[in-house]
Amino acid sequence: MNSPTPAFVAGHPAPAALVIFGASGDLTRRKLMPALYALYAHGLLPQQFAIVGFSRRDWDDDTFRATMRDAVAAFGRIPLETARWDAFAAHLFYLKAQGYDNLDDYHRLHERLTALDESAHTAGNRLFYAATPPQAFVPIVESLGAVGLNHPLHESAWVRIVIEKPFGTDLASARALNTRIQHVFDESQIYRIDHYLGKEAVQNLLAFRFANSLFEPIWNRNHIEQVQITVAESIGVEGRAGYYDRVGALRDMVQNHLMQLVTLIAMEPPASFDAEAVRNEKVKVLRAVRPFDDETIRTRIVRGQYGPGVVNERPVRGYREEEGVAPNSTTETYVALQLEIDNWRWAGIPFYLRTGKRLPRKVSEIAVIFRRPPLLLFDDQRRRKMEQNVLYLQIQPHEGLSLSVNIKIPGATMRLESVMMDFCYHGSFEFAIPEAYERLLLDAWLGDATLFIRADETEASWALFTPVLDAWQRLPPPAFPNYAAGTWGPPEADELLARNGHAWKLMVL
Ligand code: BG6
Repeated sequence: MNSPTPAFVAGHPAPAALVIFGASGDLTRRKLMPALYALYAHGLLPQQFAIVGFSRRDWDDDTFRATMRDAVAAFGRIPLETARWDAFAAHLFYLKAQGYDNLDDYHRLHERLTALDESAHTAGNRLFYAATPPQAFVPIVESLGAVGLNHPLHESAWVRIVIEKPFGTDLASARALNTRIQHVFDESQIYRIDHYLGKEAVQNLLAFRFANSLFEPIWNRNHIEQVQITVAESIGVEGRAGYYDRVGALRDMVQNHLMQLVTLIAMEPPASFDAEAVRNEKVKVLRAVRPFDDETIRTRIVRGQYGPGVVNERPVRGYREEEGVAPNSTTETYVALQLEIDNWRWAGIPFYLRTGKRLPRKVSEIAVIFRRPPLLLFDDQRRRKMEQNVLYLQIQPHEGLSLSVNIKIPGATMRLESVMMDFCYHGSFEFAIPEAYERLLLDAWLGDATLFIRADETEASWALFTPVLDAWQRLPPPAFPNYAAGTWGPPEADELLARNGHAWKLMVL
């Protein structure tokens, strides 16, 4: 067991004011404020900082502080201690806005930030965070620009903006959004979030691949037969039907989170671990993915929607019966697909992706499946199909990695069995794993954009899936619902792999 050092040690963030647009929303309560408090508790925020909540809710500094205290108590990773909270809360301020496009509010924000530079010594550094619904992104950005808050006050100061997801709904809207934002902020100031990149086990994909010499030489089509990515959720739409029913699983999960995992698994070694080098390699992967055409949209992409069923021994409603969902909704809550990456490393190797709501359990896992040995040497191997070596990269809820290997069962005959070599974070490190938002907030504060999405990445991914969304509009919808809640999705998702002689693999069933 390794010594209990802090969960992560980063550089020193400079004094700054963080402005959260959408401060009264769910994301701020559930994720951002608990993450900020955890960073503070670990001594990872600067001495001098201010957090300004900007929202339409009729609050003042005191209501904001009290509400955020409750939020941290309810959703925080670390227990709330009164003295520490009080010290942290002294850095919280609130500005009530009329609307996200009301310039008077932004003038007031400007004044408030200037005053905080004096009183809280925030040095003119500003980190804006658009934690609002996407309709507000452009009004926020343009209003900041209109009052001059997009430019640093002086040479040594910085201004950055974090943009939450969803970033666009298709290629055209993502492009338009990029254009509008880049009109006001330079790309180097823009931090597009994908919270999967902040997950510890996702970052470990890079460390695992590029800090070990063991796997990299065999990390290619010659030794790997297929790659599977499963991001399963047992929850349904959880009161988010208004958003989800317009969006669906392809936009909500595949275009962003799953494709980010694909890039990390498939990318070439970057020349260095800086933001541009890493993102250059990721975007190359996205551009090498073979575009879907009408034929492959039909044969290599499966969409599903859950009907009533049982999850965690509890009966649950079907998607169409969820509050806020149209009774004839054709929104997909499940997607499975096969994609191919047309480059030298991966040509011909299927990447299977699947994600869905109301599946039997929450699990995110990548299975890298290696080829069988070229010769079947042992009788046992000939009699029954031996297991292939599989590397399971487990992202959540269990974080770790496991490698299946075949060994001889002790005894007089040459009988083989597949066993697991396991690494588990919790068994190896005493300290708790930080939440994704802790890492991402800190990185944005530090000015490290490695774990954020660049404009060309988001567009390359939308370019792949926009034809799919268009085709789904044209084609008659499948007979939804086509999987019962609590099952692993429609049977077609199994057939997708069975056609190639493959089957979905998960580490623990
Ligand atoms: C979000 C999606 O981006 O990711 C949600 O909008 C989904 O629908 C969530 O539930 C999953 O995130 P996590 O971290 O729980 O895997």
